[in-house]
Amino acid sequence: MSLDQNLDKILIVDFGSQFTQLIARRIRELGVYSEIVSHKKIRIRNINKSVRGIILSGGPLNVYQINKYSFNKKILDLNLPILGICFGHQILSKLNGGKVKQSKHREFGLANIYKKHESLLTKNFFGVKKIKKVWMSHADQVSKLPLNFKVVASSTNSKFAIVENKTKNFFGIQFHPEVTHTENGKKLISNFIFLICKIRRNWSSKDQKLKLIKEVQSQVGTNKVICALSGGVDSSVVTQLLNKAIGKKLYCIFVNTGLLRKNEEIQVIKTFKKRLKINLIYVNAEKEFLSKLKNVSEPEKKRKIIGNLFIKIFERYAKKIKNVSFLAQGTLYPDLIESKSVTGSQTSKIKSHHNVGGLPKKMNLKLVEPLKFLFKDEVRKLGLELKLSKEIISRHPFPGPGLAIRMPGIITNEKIKILKEADYYFIQALKDHGLYHKIWQAYAALLPVKTVGVMGDNRTYEYLCLLRAITSEDGMTADFFEFKKSFLQTISNKIVNSIRGINRVVYDVTSKPPSTIELE
Ligand code: XMP
Repeated sequence: MSLDQNLDKILIVDFGSQFTQLIARRIRELGVYSEIVSHKKIRIRNINKSVRGIILSGGPLNVYQINKYSFNKKILDLNLPILGICFGHQILSKLNGGKVKQSKHREFGLANIYKKHESLLTKNFFGVKKIKKVWMSHADQVSKLPLNFKVVASSTNSKFAIVENKTKNFFGIQFHPEVTHTENGKKLISNFIFLICKIRRNWSSKDQKLKLIKEVQSQVGTNKVICALSGGVDSSVVTQLLNKAIGKKLYCIFVNTGLLRKNEEIQVIKTFKKRLKINLIYVNAEKEFLSKLKNVSEPEKKRKIIGNLFIKIFERYAKKIKNVSFLAQGTLYPDLIESKSVTGSQTSKIKSHHNVGGLPKKMNLKLVEPLKFLFKDEVRKLGLELKLSKEIISRHPFPGPGLAIRMPGIITNEKIKILKEADYYFIQALKDHGLYHKIWQAYAALLPVKTVGVMGDNRTYEYLCLLRAITSEDGMTADFFEFKKSFLQTISNKIVNSIRGINRVVYDVTSKPPSTIELE
């Protein structure tokens, strides 16, 4: 455990909760620096004056599984404010002499809590109704309060939903104030850090940028780093961060699969090679990809062919560069959140993390993942701080297999050409009508059916173009965007009139689930 000795901070002790990074994120949003330390690695001697308060996270453990966690009780004697959340609340109560037992009624999901007493922690948290909806996720609960603790709020099933020991500045919360489902939850964290810990604002995107640059420099030293640049937000931000941190020791590989959006390769080269002066290796592998994909129509087979070839090309170029020690990836925290604990605490495993870009482990490269503790919107802010254009930062996601999975059936040069145009017109129209930023992701797809139409006095027999536009928080669930009829009319006319090969346009009105965002 090594803490930044100079900067005032809130120390978050991680007991393996899925939400620990969210606590850190809320504190960053409030403009304050925090550090997360695993309960296994915390050392009293390292808690110096810069630590202004401690938050104990939730976790999958039970306070009576003593052999599964370690927690030095001396932390309670440091005269520092402590806020325990969920498991943190239970362990804080137990260490102070209270009791914890399995709840009769496990609480998962939303519950109402009712105000019982005033507290600095809940200042301006409860409205006049003295009731708030909060997010509970626990099987155990405090059954007996320690001496000198009092109840601040209760729910029907949790008598001790918020508790405090005012003299010692110890607070316990049974629910999760860090998740957005808890109404006004951020206020509790804000009250704890500003009113109780009395820490001042000391953290911004600029500080974040400088810290990450320093960390990358110290991790890679004088070694060479390669990075796969796709032109998407995450890989663009990692590229620019590494460019600032290590300059010419960074080698970016941009592979043109032939399945990119219209003019994508021109834009990437212009931005990264010409404007940002990045060591960019442009690989035109259009022919290689299209010949491997010839006559393949099965979606999974397409994905595999593209993934494997991408890796082969990447390895080929990594060898050419020679003496490369690191591979940089734009992994974000949500990519890791359900797979493993990033601080080394024990977390319940929910699913395995699929490596970004699917690059193989046997390349023997060490990973540089500077964004792995950040969330998408934080990465976007960081990108702006790194002087990337708003256009790059706010782009809709684009999948690795590209247009291949927006073209059910076999892939041909003719179809790619048609689809690139349709997608271009659609996205351009969204921008022209001020809709692009209201939509999470939008694209055109080409369906493998031809239908009859009439243009002038002539019969046409051409492809069907599908438009998809969705709203979403994170791509896990989605709803279709409700366009006005006039917009749909405009774009439909534009596509049919401008592109030879399409005579009909349909709009996809399914949500996810049951559909997915992409077609394949
Ligand atoms: P689905 O289609 O699964 O898409 O609802 C969810 C989000 O993931 C993107 N996506 C991918 N991104 N490689 C990527 O980098 C892929 O293979 C891939 N498949 C889907 C998709 O565009 C959407 O944003």
